[in-house]
Amino acid sequence: MKNNDQEYGASADAIEFHYGTGNEYFATWLGKSMAYSCALWDENDPDQSLDDAQFAKIRHHIEQSRAPGQSRVLDIGCGWGTVLLPLVKQFDVKNAVGLTLSESQANWINEHPDPRVEARVESWKDHDPTAQYDSIISIGAFEHFAKLGLSADEKIAIYREFFSRCHGWLGSRGYLSLQTVAYGNSLTEDFDTFIAKEIFPETDTPKLFEIAAGCERLFEPIVIYNHRDDYRRTLRAWYSNLKANRARCVELEGEEEVARFEQYLRLMAYMFEVGGLDLYRLTLRKIDNPKQP
Ligand SMILES: C[S@@+](CC[C@H](N)C(=O)[O-])C[C@H]1O[C@@H](n2cnc3c(N)ncnc32)[C@H](O)[C@@H]1O
Repeated sequence: MKNNDQEYGASADAIEFHYGTGNEYFATWLGKSMAYSCALWDENDPDQSLDDAQFAKIRHHIEQSRAPGQSRVLDIGCGWGTVLLPLVKQFDVKNAVGLTLSESQANWINEHPDPRVEARVESWKDHDPTAQYDSIISIGAFEHFAKLGLSADEKIAIYREFFSRCHGWLGSRGYLSLQTVAYGNSLTEDFDTFIAKEIFPETDTPKLFEIAAGCERLFEPIVIYNHRDDYRRTLRAWYSNLKANRARCVELEGEEEVARFEQYLRLMAYMFEVGGLDLYRLTLRKIDNPKQP
């Protein structure tokens, strides 16, 4: 990896190390949606497809952020554009802007250009929009905003900066719909260094109190779900897809890389199953006139 260009969170190189593995490789097991985050499953439907559950998640965030019919919506950590296209095609949004640190993801989005969609290879820290947004969505990116080894105070300072930026970009009483993995009943030392070193370098997940301290007096929490079992089910579905297409995956990325991903998907599924990790979906509303301490 090259030099770190993000002071506190995962650098562009660290992000590309994981997400740049190969678009076709990810497409083989993520499914049609190319969503690389926890889906929203119907617990009464054991036969629900991954694509269906991913779309339910996308709809959830679009609705929670009050985006349908709006002019400008921002997706922070837009991945392969899974939210950007539905926003403009199905939910009547005029302009959808996505930020990612991964060139491969932006290239994927730009292979199917839509004049209403703009994918930028840019960190939220460098984003400087020319006009306000009506709604903001961020799914599965917050996990990368702080590095392993920072103190709680340092993490909170980063999260506070993130929420302050979102606060400034949103119109009056605007909504931010946020999804993130977080520590559950676990300590940093409970985690295998395999994930930190070989899967998601320069990345530490938040704790709920750090998110709360980060957004205090900037956003009021309207809804908070912990859907950790949804992530167990999503990881199992990805694992089954990878197994079913193993030969092709090995052809694309090699045996060692595929075995590494299998280990990571199994390990993460276990952590969600036992409650070591949580999965939060938060609906936050901008407080227009924050009190100063
Ligand atoms: C797990 S993927 C989730 C992608 C997408 N939201 C989805 O649900 O499929 C994490 C995304 O966060 C982006 N990301 C990480 N750190 C970022 C930062 N500082 N600024 C903008 N995007 C970032 C990555 O480039 C990647 O697109």
